[in-house]
Amino acid sequence: MSAPRRTPDSLRSRRWFGVQDLRAFGHRSRAMQMGYDAQDWAGKPVIAIVNTWSDINPCHAHFPERVTAIKRGILQAGGFPIELPAMSLSEPFVKPTTMLYRNFLAMETEELLRSHPIDGAVLLGGCDKTTPALIMGAISMGLPAIFVPAGPMLRGNWKGQQLGSGSDVWKYWDELRAGTITQEDWTDIEAGIARSYGHCMTMGTASTMTSIAEALGLTLPGAASIPAADSNHVRMAAASGRRIVDMVWEDLTPQRVLTAAAFENAVVATMAMGGSTNALIHLIAMARRAGLATFGLDDVEQASRQVPVIANIRPSGDRYLMEDFYYAGGLRALLARLDAPLHGSCLTVNGRTVAENVSGAEVYDDDVIRPLDNPVYGEGALAVLKGNLAPDGAVMKPAACAPRFRQHTGPALVFGDYADLKANVDRDDLDVTPDSVLVLQNAGPQGAPGMPEWGMLPIPKKLVARGVRDMVRLSDARMSGTSYGACILHVAPESFVGGPLALVRTGDRITVDVQGRRLQLEVADDELARRREAWVPPTPRYHRGYGALFARHIRQANDGCDFDILETQRGAAVDEPAIF
Ligand code: FES
Repeated sequence: MSAPRRTPDSLRSRRWFGVQDLRAFGHRSRAMQMGYDAQDWAGKPVIAIVNTWSDINPCHAHFPERVTAIKRGILQAGGFPIELPAMSLSEPFVKPTTMLYRNFLAMETEELLRSHPIDGAVLLGGCDKTTPALIMGAISMGLPAIFVPAGPMLRGNWKGQQLGSGSDVWKYWDELRAGTITQEDWTDIEAGIARSYGHCMTMGTASTMTSIAEALGLTLPGAASIPAADSNHVRMAAASGRRIVDMVWEDLTPQRVLTAAAFENAVVATMAMGGSTNALIHLIAMARRAGLATFGLDDVEQASRQVPVIANIRPSGDRYLMEDFYYAGGLRALLARLDAPLHGSCLTVNGRTVAENVSGAEVYDDDVIRPLDNPVYGEGALAVLKGNLAPDGAVMKPAACAPRFRQHTGPALVFGDYADLKANVDRDDLDVTPDSVLVLQNAGPQGAPGMPEWGMLPIPKKLVARGVRDMVRLSDARMSGTSYGACILHVAPESFVGGPLALVRTGDRITVDVQGRRLQLEVADDELARRREAWVPPTPRYHRGYGALFARHIRQANDGCDFDILETQRGAAVDEPAIF
């Protein structure tokens, strides 16, 4: 523990428990109603455990047990733990998409911390959007906070073969459609692919985001790679509980950890891990909450050119899963191997620097975490493309697509929305070839709404039957981090608000040039101007409730899809009159 900057008298919770007035009488007497007394709270930091557990979130099914461990740690260190339940955002069950509610959870986290007598927070998440949402809310509130990642589930298994979350769903769905596996096989895969609690164990969005939380310095070192079912995970949870109490005394807030250099470290880690395309949206949103107003896709693109993919984890890698990554040394070993591009002096939540935390980390399997001279992919996992089709950018994962599509020109086959896609993509008379570019419109932040993971458009059944397994697909949607293929995503501005994607018609030629980072609609400017003139804005989808709030305030993908009213300036985060 470094030198204390706070005293018991300066704790925020003192306004609730430590003063002699009518309100504090109520706070103390109601705490006593629950069986607590002054021994529990007097002069002690009150620590919130923001828990995104629910009965319908399998990735967080172990959180009640982890809360017990975290409370144990908090009590050991002299704090007062309080569990605060928050929206669970269960990726497999929430419709139309959890992305619609990421900002909802971010707001909830911020307001839970603001409205209660809290001095510091343990953030308990992992299933995709829960990680950025919890962190965004905690940044805006500005209290000391530590993130406890859910941990990846164990490897899946089917007939002795490893199964990876998401990636093998897409793979075997195509095989089922092609008739190369049976319905019985499919049912067995269903029963074997998710065999323990924990988040998806490929390098999907969950593993990417929890690793980003660690690379940013918001977790204890090594925390993100520990499998959920490993007893090390329980001990990490207890240690995080102990640590947050000291963080309160040290006033170690997210603002002291989340510098521009910390975000550069996170981008480098994302590239080296072969991380999810979704990470770019969340990184931008978190960075801007932390006051880095100009952080954007250009920062990502810079790192993309310099950092090779060295984590051989699916879907960018061809074989391994997060459990293998942990046994090979995990994120600490990967960061130690990267060495040079990292800012080692960044402060982290344990009070030490990144360099100190990765010092001594070793790689135990060179095929899982590759040497820099034998990468999985020579450049960063993610590429930002721009051109007349995406003036504000689009994102692609070239490491996870068939090499021939990194330079490709083909005719567009346009689906006006998701309903059109579902109704027509498998028609026998569909006019499509393996060189076609499948285009999906109106699937962006406003259009879908919430930018669902529809961006890995299904390969038309007639082509699947011919053995086609990848095609160029283009949309303003996102795709699951466990997905793969030549999918160009997050096209900005989106078609629903009149972005150029809205002007594409079937038969137009589209060029993708990954090396040149270009995405071009090969249609003359005057013809595009005519189409724009004739374009009619679609009717807004929501008129009341959260949906209307979302539609009014959501930013585009290149701006991180945060609400404009939630973007904050560094240092102006905590805004609470002391008179209440
Ligand atoms: Fe929860 Fe994938 S479904 S992380």
